[in-house]
Amino acid sequence: MSDKRVLLIIGGGIAAYKSLELIRLLAKAGVKSRAILTKAGAEFVTPLSVGALTGDKVYQELFDLTAEAEMGHIELSRAADLVVVAPATADLMAKAANGLANDLASTALLATDKRVLMAPAMNVRMWEHAATQRNLARLHADGVRFVGPDAGEMACGEYGPGRMAEPEAIKAAILALLSDGPLKGKHALVTAGPTVEAIDPVRFLSNRSSGKQGYAIAAALANLGAEVTLVSGPTTLAAPAGVNRVDVESAREMLAACEAALPADVAICVAAVADWRPGAAAAEKIKKDKSGTPAISLTENPDILATLSKLGKKRPRLVIGFAAETNDVEAHARAKIAKKGCDWIVANDVSGDVMGGAENEVLLIKRDSAEAWPRMAKEAVGWKLAAEIAKFLTAKVRRK
Ligand code: C5P
Repeated sequence: MSDKRVLLIIGGGIAAYKSLELIRLLAKAGVKSRAILTKAGAEFVTPLSVGALTGDKVYQELFDLTAEAEMGHIELSRAADLVVVAPATADLMAKAANGLANDLASTALLATDKRVLMAPAMNVRMWEHAATQRNLARLHADGVRFVGPDAGEMACGEYGPGRMAEPEAIKAAILALLSDGPLKGKHALVTAGPTVEAIDPVRFLSNRSSGKQGYAIAAALANLGAEVTLVSGPTTLAAPAGVNRVDVESAREMLAACEAALPADVAICVAAVADWRPGAAAAEKIKKDKSGTPAISLTENPDILATLSKLGKKRPRLVIGFAAETNDVEAHARAKIAKKGCDWIVANDVSGDVMGGAENEVLLIKRDSAEAWPRMAKEAVGWKLAAEIAKFLTAKVRRK
């Protein structure tokens, strides 16, 4: 990483102090930072502290003759390998989403041809506001990558999503984006979201899966250079940049899409596939007044994870399943590895608020080991799992 450079835009939020730690962590990993400090950012951290840590001039003004003479503002972002906005305030996100260029930070964001990573940080109501969510969707569509925000206690005394990701998580995201892609040339197949099983043309059986964890894994794999096919049930999420999403509804469609996407080097089954479907979906809407309360008889759905695990020649080298449990997590997960024939299981306890939530606390279970990961954002689980997959797929195969 010694020749990599990051342009770090520090926005005006209380989380700006964490960016100082980020610069230090990046320097330790051999990544040089050059900083743009916004006017509001300078209310929270001083140019002196930022400059002392980057060992470079701190850029603050759009119309600064001396700075322009040294490095034109257009050049600033071009000279970097990656542009990082941390903290990305609601204002900076709004400017970037709308292509405004009325200060140095927004101009650098509009002028860059490099990848952009944002670490949002704001009050929970500002984060949840329709305008911010609209800007987020636009930025996603423009290819901007995100790390965080985390949910938790905030400096303003409120609780919820909006807290900037921890410097370690931002560093991990940066290093993954800067790497030359250990998964280059590898094909990853990810299933995500719920499946929807029709009862009749307007009614269905489904579940509460949000798809967040699967999408985060797909995004992290793409960032490591993999070609990713994301077979997704209906969700409200935007397809991560660089990922090929195939939309499906039922379990049977999901299986068919997975089989069509083969061969793959790794398959990660994150989808909450409905175990059963109504035996035969009625061709017409079932009428309420016809013959009392209808009985729905259920038929078992195909098990996608087990099918991919037992494929024989076409089997991906690494097949990973998820196990949502409410008790005896490890024991049930180990039984699942044996039953389904997969290689690893990512197991989590869903008795709390994991389903649909922003965070996850998992156990990574391999055939001969188990590792408990601390509670972290689903995105961070994605980065960590992608790194594990990269380690496995790039390890030299030992010959007997
Ligand atoms: O059996 P259970 O639903 O607990 O297993 C969960 C794992 O199996 C997840 O990885 C899920 O994506 C996968 N699965 C599947 N097809 C099914 C049921 C579960 O791929 N029909």
